[in-house]
Amino acid sequence: MCVCYSLGRQNFARPYSVNTSTAVQRRIKRIAVIPGDGIGKEVVPEAVRILAAAVARANHEAEFVEFDWGADRFLRDGTTLPASAAEMFRREFDAILFGAVGDPRVPSNRHAADILLGLRAKLDLYVNARPVELLDASLGPLRDRREEDIRFIIFRENTEGLYAGVGGQFRHGDPEEIAIQEDINTRRGVERIIRYAFEYARTHKLGEVLMSDKSNALTFGHELWQRVFAKVRREFPEIDARHLYIDTLVAELVRDPSQFRVIVTCNLFGDIVSDLAAQLAGGLGIAPSGNIHPGQVSLFEPVHGSAPNIAGKGIANPMGAVLAAAMLCDHVGWSDLGGLLREAVRAAMRAGQRTRDILGARSTRQVGDWLLDYVTGGKERKRDPSLR
Ligand code: IPM
Ligand code: MN
Repeated sequence: MCVCYSLGRQNFARPYSVNTSTAVQRRIKRIAVIPGDGIGKEVVPEAVRILAAAVARANHEAEFVEFDWGADRFLRDGTTLPASAAEMFRREFDAILFGAVGDPRVPSNRHAADILLGLRAKLDLYVNARPVELLDASLGPLRDRREEDIRFIIFRENTEGLYAGVGGQFRHGDPEEIAIQEDINTRRGVERIIRYAFEYARTHKLGEVLMSDKSNALTFGHELWQRVFAKVRREFPEIDARHLYIDTLVAELVRDPSQFRVIVTCNLFGDIVSDLAAQLAGGLGIAPSGNIHPGQVSLFEPVHGSAPNIAGKGIANPMGAVLAAAMLCDHVGWSDLGGLLREAVRAAMRAGQRTRDILGARSTRQVGDWLLDYVTGGKERKRDPSLR
C-alpha cells in the first residue's frame, strides 16, 4: 500500500511506483526521488525504473516518492527546501536519489544551494564518497590505461570547510569592498571523515589511505588535518597512511592514477579533485556519488550537474544516475542489487550501448531500456563473470 507522507499530503510529492507483492513483514525501504533540474529530470526517471525493476525481481520492497523541488518550483512559488524536509527525510525515508540542480533562469543558484547544500548540512551527510573506476579501457583521456589502473575512491568532507557559509561582505559593491569566506575545520568534523576513510580501507582491505591538504600554506586549518591524521592512523596500524599536498595530488593523479586506493580530503579540494578524477575514468556522465551519514538517511546523486546545454535533448548519459542508485542499494543493505546495477552498466558499455559523451550514439531512453532489460534478465544479459 503506498502512503505519501506529510509532504505528499500537501501535494509536494507523488508516488512513483509501489511494490505491494508480498505480505511478508519485511521492512519496506522508502526512497525519496528528487530529479531537480535539467538532465536530472531525464536521467533520474531512468535510474528509478531500472532500480524499481531490480527491486521487484529480487523480492525486495521499496516505495518511491518523488519531490518536485528545483528551478520550476522555485520560480513558480518560491519553494526551495521546505523547512520540514530534513526532519521528514530523517524520520520517514531510508535514502534519497537526487538528480542535479542548477538552471540559467536562476542565476543566483539560490535554490540549488538551499536544496543540495541544505540537505548535506541539515542531514549531516558528512561523507561525500566518490568512487572513480575506469569501467571500460576505451574511456578516459590517458594513454595505455587498463581498467585496473584507475580504481580508487575519494572521501570528501561534506559539511564544513569553505562550504560552511561563514563569512560576509563589507561595503558590498563598493570599490573598497571586502569579501570574507571562512574555512571552518572542526576537530570532530576532520576526525570523523578521516576515520571513515580508514575504516573503509580496513573493511575493503585496500591497505592505504592518502590524506591531502595544503598545510604548507594553510597553517591553521590544515595543520589540524595533519594532527588529526597522525592521531587516527595509529588506530589502523595495518593500513599505510600517506600524505600529499593537494597540488602534488592532482599532478600525480594525471601522471599515474594506479597508485591510489583511498583519498580523503576537505570539502573544496574534494569537489575539485573529484571532477578531475571523474574525467580520468571516462567523464562526468558516468561518475556517481554518495552523501552519507552512516546508519542514517543518505543522498545519492550523479557527480554531473544539470547540464542546461544538453537538457531536453534526450542525450544525457543515465549511467551516472544508475551507478548512484547502485551506491544507494549498498547503503540500504541491498548489496546484491548494487552489484547487479554496476554489472549492467559495464555490460552496456561493452555492448556499445553508450550515449555520445562516452563515444556512442544511443539516447538516454535507449540506454535506459537496455539496462532495464539487463537487470530483469532479458535476452541481452550475458553471464560474463568478468563484468562483476
Ligand atoms: C558537487 C557540486 C556542488 C558542490 C555544487 C553544485 C554546489 O559541484 O556536488 O560537486 O560544489 O558541492
Ligand atoms: Mn563539484
